[in-house]
Formats: sequence, C-alpha cells, structure tokens
Amino acid sequence: MKGKAVKGNWSLKRNNKFSFLSVFLICIFFFLAGFFGSTLFFHSQKHENGMRPRSTARLLEKSTKEETEYNLLRPGESGDDFITSIPFQVLSWRPQAIYFPNFASAEQCKSIIDMARGRLTPSIVALRKGETEASAKGIRTSSGVFISAFEDKTGILDVIENKIARATKIPRSHGEAFNILRYGVGQKYSSHYDAFNPAEYGPQESQRMASFLLYLTDVPEGGETMFPYENGLNMDGSYNFEDCIGLRVKPRRGDGFLFYSLFPNGTIDPASLHGSCPVIKGEKWVATKWIRDQNQKEDW
Ligand SMILES: *[C@@H]1O[C@H](CO)[C@@H](O)[C@H](O)[C@H]1NC(C)=O
Repeated sequence: MKGKAVKGNWSLKRNNKFSFLSVFLICIFFFLAGFFGSTLFFHSQKHENGMRPRSTARLLEKSTKEETEYNLLRPGESGDDFITSIPFQVLSWRPQAIYFPNFASAEQCKSIIDMARGRLTPSIVALRKGETEASAKGIRTSSGVFISAFEDKTGILDVIENKIARATKIPRSHGEAFNILRYGVGQKYSSHYDAFNPAEYGPQESQRMASFLLYLTDVPEGGETMFPYENGLNMDGSYNFEDCIGLRVKPRRGDGFLFYSLFPNGTIDPASLHGSCPVIKGEKWVATKWIRDQNQKEDW
C-alpha cells in the first residue's frame, strides 16, 4: 500500500512533469514565434515607411494638427482668440531672410494684379545727395502703384496686411501702403538698400527696417530677388551692383518673402543689399510692403 502509493505518486509526478514540460515548450515556441514574427513584421513596416517617409510624416503631421486642441489663454484687448500658424523657412541669417511658402492664394494674387494693372506708372528711386533723376535713370525700370489696404474695396489687401503683421509680429501701423510692381522682360532693379543711410540721404524721421514681398506671378526665367553680399560674400568693393549673384530667391505665385534691413540694434545690415534680377521670360508682379521702425502717421 505504501509502495503502491509511492508508485502512484511517482507516476503522477511523472505525468505532471511531462505535461508541465510540454506546456513550457509550447510556451517557449509561441513566445519565439511571436517575437520573431513581430520583428519581421516590424522590419517590413519600417521598410515600407522608408520608401515613403515624407507622405507618412505629412499625413501624421496633418492629423495631429487637426486633432490637437490648443488650450488658449485669455487674450488682451487687441489680441486674438485663435491660433495663427504660418509655415516659414529661414533662407539666411545674414541677411536675415525668411521664406513663407503659399502665403496667399492664386485668386488673391490675381485680384491684386487686376486692381493695379490700369494704374501703373514708372517706378522711381529716392535720390542720394548729389544724385539727379537723370543719373539715377536705369537703376529701377519696373512700373508700379501704391495701394493702401483701406483703399481696396475687395478686402484682399486687408487680409494680406493682417497676415503680414502676424508673420512679422510688427503692428500693421508700421507698414507703408502696398507697392504693387510689374517687371516686364529685361526690367530689373539694381542692387540697393531699402534702409536710408543718413550719411547718404540725410537725417531720417523713420527707417525702413524690414521688407515683405508677396510674389504675385510665377516667373519662368529671371526676376529673382538677389542678395549679392550674402554671408559676407563679394564685399571686397568689386561688385558692380548689376550682376545677379549671391542668394537668389525665385518668385513663385503666392509665396511671401521677408528680409530685415536693420540689425536688432537698429544699424543697417550691409548684407541686406539686394536687387531684382532682369526678367528673362514672362513677367514678374510683386506686392511689396516696407515696414518702418516708427508708426506711420498717415495711415493710423
Ligand atoms: C549692431 O549689430 C551688428 C550685428 O550684430 C554689429 O556688427 C554692430 O557692430 C552693432 N553696432 C552697434 C553700433 O552696436
């Protein structure tokens, strides 16, 4: 009885051990199968991602953007109760130049051209001490017109001006009226500064600190906005103010482009010298907004 019990116990133990071992092995098998299977799956997914990283990233970005709810703060009297998101690319820190893709729609660009087309007159330049209109002839061969936002009954310039203020973080009241410009084939603007150096132009009541360009047309060839002194290049005194060299920004309809003529300390940035390369094919239309360091009394 004792022996039997022992035997019985033993066989039970053996049975137990066997089933335990088989369960253990089955577990190991599924564990390994699962592990390698998931690794394989992960690899193939990674591969797929690697083949289209951009579109996936873009889709993700879009959905997060749409799904994210910002926890807005209570704005002050003149603030916004919404978030503004304006994509930009820093093109250069010297000069400080920033590109805003798709800043305006094609329809907005067309409307701005339509309101300016019949009103263009030859563009003029500010004369330095000792310079005459005759001596300055040929520096700037475009035609243009100044149109302020409150003059525009369509409201488009108002929308654009608001967006420029948000992009630059400088109040609208610092902007001059829009200068809508047209450059035909062969027309250009030789390299110059938008800021007025008091040594050359006499004392200034206010200074142009930044310029925002809204390109209204695609230009198939030529018409780039160029910065010959980008990053300190070509500053040895040999530059002829005509050659289209340095940083060049290709005009594309609806794109915005901002650059600063002054350093944060208020002195003129020598690298902000810029020009408009001659148009070779097509025509270039651009809406320029010069932004001053002082409020513009006429407008506000
Ligand atoms: C103003 O800032 C620029 C750029 O940082 C610097 O090169 C220049 O010396 C400064 N000028 C004055 C007067 O502080």
